Amino acid sequence: MEKTCADALPLTMNSSEKQETVCIFGTGDFGRSLGFKILQCGYSVVFGSRNPEMSSLLPSSAEVLSYSEAAQKSDIIILTVHREHYDFLTELIEVLNGKILVDVSNNLKINQYPESNAEYLAQLVPGAHVVKAFNTISAWALQSGIMDANRQVFVCGNNSRAKQRVVDIARTLGLTPLDQGSLTAANEIENYPLQLFPMWRVPFYLSAALCVFFFFYCVIREVIYPYVYEKEDSTFRLAISIPNRVFPITALTLLALVYLPGVIAAILQVYRGTKYRRFPGWLDHWMLCRKQLGLVALGFAFLHVIYTLVIPIRYYVRWRIRNITITQVMAKKDNPFSTSSAWLSDSYVSLGILGFFLFVLLGITSLPSVSNTVNWREFRFVQSKLGFLTLILCTAHTLVYGGKRFLNPSSLRWYLPSAYILALVIPCTVLVMKFILIVPCIDKTLTRIRQGWERNSKYSKSALKGKSDI
Ligand SMILES: Cc1cc2nc3c(=O)[nH]c(=O)nc-3n(C[C@H](O)[C@H](O)[C@H](O)COP(=O)(O)OP(=O)(O)OC[C@H]3O[C@@H](n4cnc5c(N)ncnc54)[C@H](O)[C@@H]3O)c2cc1C
Ligand SMILES: NC(=O)c1ccc[n+]([C@@H]2O[C@H](COP(=O)([O-])OP(=O)(O)OC[C@H]3O[C@@H](n4cnc5c(N)ncnc54)[C@H](OP(=O)(O)O)[C@@H]3O)[C@@H](O)[C@H]2O)c1
Ligand code: HEM
Repeated sequence: MEKTCADALPLTMNSSEKQETVCIFGTGDFGRSLGFKILQCGYSVVFGSRNPEMSSLLPSSAEVLSYSEAAQKSDIIILTVHREHYDFLTELIEVLNGKILVDVSNNLKINQYPESNAEYLAQLVPGAHVVKAFNTISAWALQSGIMDANRQVFVCGNNSRAKQRVVDIARTLGLTPLDQGSLTAANEIENYPLQLFPMWRVPFYLSAALCVFFFFYCVIREVIYPYVYEKEDSTFRLAISIPNRVFPITALTLLALVYLPGVIAAILQVYRGTKYRRFPGWLDHWMLCRKQLGLVALGFAFLHVIYTLVIPIRYYVRWRIRNITITQVMAKKDNPFSTSSAWLSDSYVSLGILGFFLFVLLGITSLPSVSNTVNWREFRFVQSKLGFLTLILCTAHTLVYGGKRFLNPSSLRWYLPSAYILALVIPCTVLVMKFILIVPCIDKTLTRIRQGWERNSKYSKSALKGKSDI
């Protein structure tokens, strides 16, 4: 790598064209990687360093000078130095006057300082045009090729000409610059790389809590209860039987939780008679993480399907079938074929397969490459209409699975019903509320509200009156 860096030749170098010079302050990991990439893309690079003579790791075609000498060579300076070391710039205020100063820095914690690094830099060197950029690109990505890494470069700054120069450089490097406006956006841009799956946190915690709850619930019913009453060791159920209850129950509950906030939002809108009032914060956040909730639910549904596929090869299942057969042979008596049981069994499996198919379809349409090819109406048709159909099918799959045992008192253990009955509470509630919302008179009101109509016309009248008084 070092050798390649040292031998770096511009990919687009044209000897007849005068090369634009970019100055990079700092010869650390990021400065070196960025310098190498910029050189490759046809610019000439001048590094500014505290020790210009210690430059063995830098590309040989780049010049290495002291900070003040390097600054004089270019009108654009990329500052690849940590914020804590910005003090040395105060000695260079004159030479930096009118130059474009690109701040690439990140912090260790979100909102570590009262102001963003870029705004701090602008205060430190008031004569320079500070632009925030490149902080979302890693030195590793620049070295190993940006094909398999994030290519988005968020750019902000108060001087549009300066911003445009940085945007041009980013584009030449094969990156995707995105203008985020003025320097006040720097704080947000600096926080991006520090966030750890913010939208995934609630779905993960929620699914973990549901898994833990239902796991212990099933352990009490299916392991501890038989042990207490029949001294039966059912601990083998911990491996497949119980996970194959916990995972589909979690999937179904999460799927219902994807569609519950939309229903609550609709009820709020109908109740308030307007769409122009903000939803409470928790509902806003819930609505924003529905995609992640749905994808986590899909992951659990996948697990359920895989666990279900192995049911026929389980020792316990084969043993039970063999035993039933032997018992019947010995008793010289077979169980008559029950058409209703066959119907129930085939129906619930079929409903599960159809539900899973639509579930996967929802997952596929949420891929950016697919969602970019459909329009808003098509996306909503799949996500909202087919999404509710998925919920209906998965709920029906579970209801029919309960079949004749459903709500049968003999299935209670220590007064605890089967876990799948608990799993049906939220989905059934969501579906009932949704069916109420699509009753024509309510649906009509909701549609009008979403088109801007407000029930409480008193406000608008008094507002109008107020206006005319003025
Ligand atoms: C596997 C999977 C993948 C998913 N992927 C995605 C994804 O990529 N992106 C995504 O967003 N969701 C995704 N979801 C979540 C979910 O499918 C969508 O959010 C879906 O649109 C929710 O439908 P809804 O009818 O409940 O809500 P919405 O259609 O969003 O409507 C909910 C509420 O929004 C408000 N509203 C809707 N229309 C209007 C309007 N015209 N004017 C004013 N207010 C309005 C109303 O308050 C309404 O009640 C995914 C779910 C799953 C299971
Ligand atoms: N590494 C990444 O992947 C990455 C990604 C995005 C953003 N960034 C940002 O880029 C900046 C540099 O990161 P880096 O990883 O390249 O850090 P680094 O390896 O520590 O390099 C920092 C450089 O700053 C210079 N410097 C100037 N004054 C200094 C002082 N007083 N003490 C120490 N160094 C001083 C040094 O260069 P000289 O010795 O030549 O003077 C040093 O090599 C940081 O702001 C970082 O947040 C880094
Ligand atoms: C290919 C698709 C599917 C098949 C073949 C399938 C099959 C099954 C089977 C065989 C059972 C009984 C398991 C047992 O006896 O232990 C079951 C139960 C269940 N399934 Fe599915 N299923 C599918 C998809 C889904 C989906 C998509 C969901 C919901 C998101 C779901 C939710 C449930 C639930 C909640 C139970 C009850 C769990 C319990 O308490 O035992 N299934 N399914």
